[in-house]
Amino acid sequence: MSRYHATHAYSIESPAEFWQEQAQRIPWKRFPETILSWDEQRHARWFEDGTLNICYAALDHHVEKGRGEQVALYYDSPVTGAREVLTYRALRDRVAYVAGGLEKLGVGKGDRVVIYMPMVPEAVIAMLACARIGAVHSVVFGGFAARELALRIEDAEPKVVISASCGIEVNTVLPYKPIVDQAIAQSVFKPEALVVFQREAERAPLNEGEHDWQTLEQSGVFAECVEVEATHPLYILYTSGTTGKPKGVVRDTGGYAVALAYSMEAVYGLAPGDVCFTASDVGWVVGHSYIVYGPLLRGCASVVYEGKPVKTPDAGSFWRIIDEYRVKSFFTAPTAFRAIKKEDPEALERRRYSLASLEHVFVAGERLDPPTFHWLSDVLNVPIIDHWWQTETGWPIAANLAGIELAPAKAGSATYPVPGFNVEIIGREGEKSAAMEEGSVLIKQPLPPGCLSGIWRDPARFHSAYMAAFPGYYLTGDGGYFDDDGYLFIMGRTDDVINVAGHRLSTGEMEGVLGAHPAVAECAVIGIHDDLKGQRPVGFVIPKDGFDGDEAALEAALIQQVRETIGPVAAFKQVLIVNRLPKTRSGKILRKLLRTLADGKPYTVPSTIDDPTSLDDAQVAMSRHGVGRVDEARPAEQ
Ligand code: COA
Ligand code: AMP
Repeated sequence: MSRYHATHAYSIESPAEFWQEQAQRIPWKRFPETILSWDEQRHARWFEDGTLNICYAALDHHVEKGRGEQVALYYDSPVTGAREVLTYRALRDRVAYVAGGLEKLGVGKGDRVVIYMPMVPEAVIAMLACARIGAVHSVVFGGFAARELALRIEDAEPKVVISASCGIEVNTVLPYKPIVDQAIAQSVFKPEALVVFQREAERAPLNEGEHDWQTLEQSGVFAECVEVEATHPLYILYTSGTTGKPKGVVRDTGGYAVALAYSMEAVYGLAPGDVCFTASDVGWVVGHSYIVYGPLLRGCASVVYEGKPVKTPDAGSFWRIIDEYRVKSFFTAPTAFRAIKKEDPEALERRRYSLASLEHVFVAGERLDPPTFHWLSDVLNVPIIDHWWQTETGWPIAANLAGIELAPAKAGSATYPVPGFNVEIIGREGEKSAAMEEGSVLIKQPLPPGCLSGIWRDPARFHSAYMAAFPGYYLTGDGGYFDDDGYLFIMGRTDDVINVAGHRLSTGEMEGVLGAHPAVAECAVIGIHDDLKGQRPVGFVIPKDGFDGDEAALEAALIQQVRETIGPVAAFKQVLIVNRLPKTRSGKILRKLLRTLADGKPYTVPSTIDDPTSLDDAQVAMSRHGVGRVDEARPAEQ
């Protein structure tokens, strides 16, 4: 049995023993006696009677162990020209003073703080400052519009919102403060205070009751770490579900700290002092786990990069960072590499830099398509590791384990389940699938530490979304299969969630926005293949009787409405006006059939269809607008 297989088998057969050993990796205040227990929903609960402070484990502990002068964060912002180096001691001090400032505003253990910031070190400082005093942070990605921010404020009910005066996208300055003002105005719940980090590119005028970050940080109070239970929520991170309302994924503290500390070694093969570069955003789970908490828990240096893979200034941006900071492990989404490949197919930029320090490249957020895998493998002479995970799990479910032993890579596969994750594929009839048979990907309970402990204030939704379909299992929402060698292939979502440029979005939410327009009678949004972004959303709209016929004007209005309501991150740029949509006799729009057509795949018209000729409308509209590969779609052979 290989080292990997032995480790995985032990983690599944003896989870409490396995995780008790891994728990030694972090400095607890009180080491847990109960390792694994169960909550009311028969969901695993970890380290229930342990206590700790994750900010202490990530910062103070290293300073006390003599690593205070080691680099914790490299900030590199090609969009502003700024660079900054923060040692563990400097970061600890800044975090402690901001935490002190927050305490002065009345923030304490269990209070929520919403953070809406661009990729600046202050975003990381704000997160750690909350953790230091036991407050629960909820970071909202800057590409979301005011209504999305308002929804999260209303659900999390934060005492304080922390933001910045602006973000910078390539060379466009995007004011953040007006979005925050609008969101607070829209939200029924009103936070007590707003803290704004002023940036030189555009300062924001502050009103009464609003606080300047710098003044807050200089308030002179150094906050000590507050001891919390292992099960205390560290953060809420909202993610798209199938309905219009985002789900507030709740992460505990102790289990998360142990899982991340374990993964930094087992999955990423990193040691204290190593440099890792995760090109994502703190607004996503990848940013939470592997820009902020994971690297710092392990005593690594993490690069905070404010820029794009291309155009800031060119397709060599990532290679420069790897060279300049001697990056050992680099992690981003496949779409970022496709953007580089598009600009620089021969990878000429790569030759300008030394990548001698680089040992592994990790990708996640969407499946690493084989052409991009092969291109990367040719361009970079290091293992390219596709690993699969979700906001809910907080860390990878499947990976090629650089810190245990690397298996030969297979293009398109996320390799093996990570120790702790018992992955099974279940077919349509509820039976366990054989090798090579695609089905629903499930994780058998107990889920390992680090995974979600619930949905914020919504246990019923937690149960219905993840637990109800297959008792004793967690439903991932992904489809996939194991091959004959036990390699896991994740083939895509089985629900209405899509992945656009590695960003998870709900088509249901977009339909809600389109449906709210007064000229729209019915609509459907599907995700179709996009060479750069993996997927992109396309809307189909049936106008109401009395529509004036100006299709271009309606299309533009709907695109603008999605941008203003959900945000530019939705990348919603195409609407097709149609007279009819294919539906079942009970009135359900056949979205899956539309997706199959758009993918140019063989299709079967279901016997439940109300009017088979209705398909023609959608097909003609797609063909006319050059959407997908509809012209290649053919009826399946019977
Ligand atoms: N604040 C404000 N606006 C933002 C934003 C932010 N933080 N992030 C993105 N946007 C805007 C973009 O400016 C763009 O606006 P536009 O329609 O006016 O051009 C829109 O949202 C869509 O952004 P994006 O999907 O990122 O497209 P892009 O063309 O700007 O860049 C990539 C494409 C592939 C280069 C980029 O998506 C990328 O680097 N992705 C990496 C993936 C990643 O970080 N995934 C996270 C999980 S690992
Ligand atoms: P998010 O919660 O935003 O991280 O998105 C999670 C979803 O992204 C998963 O459910 C998958 O559909 C998809 N995903 C993430 N990583 C991978 C991967 N390596 N391979 C295939 N799909 C992935």
